[in-house]
Amino acid sequence: MERRMTQFSPAPDRLTLRRPDDWHVHLRDGDVLKAVVRYTARQFGRAIVMPNLSPPITTVAAARAYRERILAALAESPAVLGGDGAVGDVSAFVPLMTCYLTDDISPDEVARGHQEGVFTAAKLYPANATTNSAHGVTDVRNIYSVLERMQEIGMPLLIHGEVTDADIDIFDREAVFIDRTMSRLVADFPALKVVFEHITTEDAAQFVVDAPETVGATITPHHLEISRNAMLVGGIRPHYYCLPIVKRERHRQALRKAATGGNAKFFLGTDTAPHARNAKETGCGCAGIFNAPHALEAYAKVFEEEDALDRLEAFASENGPRFYGLPLNEGTVTLERAQNAVPETLPGGQVEIVPFHAGSMLSWRLASS
Ligand code: DOR
Ligand code: ZN
Repeated sequence: MERRMTQFSPAPDRLTLRRPDDWHVHLRDGDVLKAVVRYTARQFGRAIVMPNLSPPITTVAAARAYRERILAALAESPAVLGGDGAVGDVSAFVPLMTCYLTDDISPDEVARGHQEGVFTAAKLYPANATTNSAHGVTDVRNIYSVLERMQEIGMPLLIHGEVTDADIDIFDREAVFIDRTMSRLVADFPALKVVFEHITTEDAAQFVVDAPETVGATITPHHLEISRNAMLVGGIRPHYYCLPIVKRERHRQALRKAATGGNAKFFLGTDTAPHARNAKETGCGCAGIFNAPHALEAYAKVFEEEDALDRLEAFASENGPRFYGLPLNEGTVTLERAQNAVPETLPGGQVEIVPFHAGSMLSWRLASS
């Protein structure tokens, strides 16, 4: 068996990486946007910003305006974060905007947005799959003319890969989507770049490995760290509820192998999805895990546990831009080994938001820059 150097080297106390990007974030809008955007911007050079606002971002004008609001919110953000005093260089952060696909969106609008440098990619939400997806696509054949254009102009398609049929068990929805939709879509559009977002199953990881080079996938920190037992054994934990839902342990193990195994098709995408505490701790709680505040630390924990810290940089900072055809970032970020206490809650404008790892201790911390 091949052995890598890190297995023999002492564990490092500092880890400097090329500045990473987050290929899947929900920044929201208004006060919440103002409260959360700096967490992403202090770690990441760029982030793919999801368009599932209410109403969703379906036009070039709406995306331009949203991008302005993001940059304005960042400019207003307090300079110092939390109690640790650490702050990254937020001024260079670039939000990459996406277009929310609907059954009747015009191929011209999507293509114009890409050509004008506004839409980096387009997002396919199957209708009613998740938060603010009611206007999503009811049948992928309805948008074949859009996908045709995207393929022609090299614009990536980002997919929330779950079926929404009432008779399909929630734990099977990703695997059934692969069989019913994803396989055919990839076959029908052989040159279209497709990102299978936030994969949660062994089936999805294997599909991506076996697919052509045009197919990549993002993997979240929470799907690498928790399985459904963590969410449900000994009490129900609403802050671990997200979509696609966390699966069996065997799937988590497969995702850890995929993320840390060195295959360049897999890259970092946190799916950080802030919701007010009272919207999660309630009779019918919202889906979404707010992991932006300690995202890089969480990935570092997983890569270290898998003896793969030497592969973190490729996953976090290289595979994504290469897939998208964008330059790698120039700057760096440094993680240092330190006790890093995660607060129970963080301010989210008018509301409180509970972060992933709330109340626990992490062993890496983003260093001041
Ligand atoms: O858990 C999730 N939250 N999954 C999604 O697909 C959407 C996201 C959100 O926007 O809250
Ligand atoms: Zn998402």
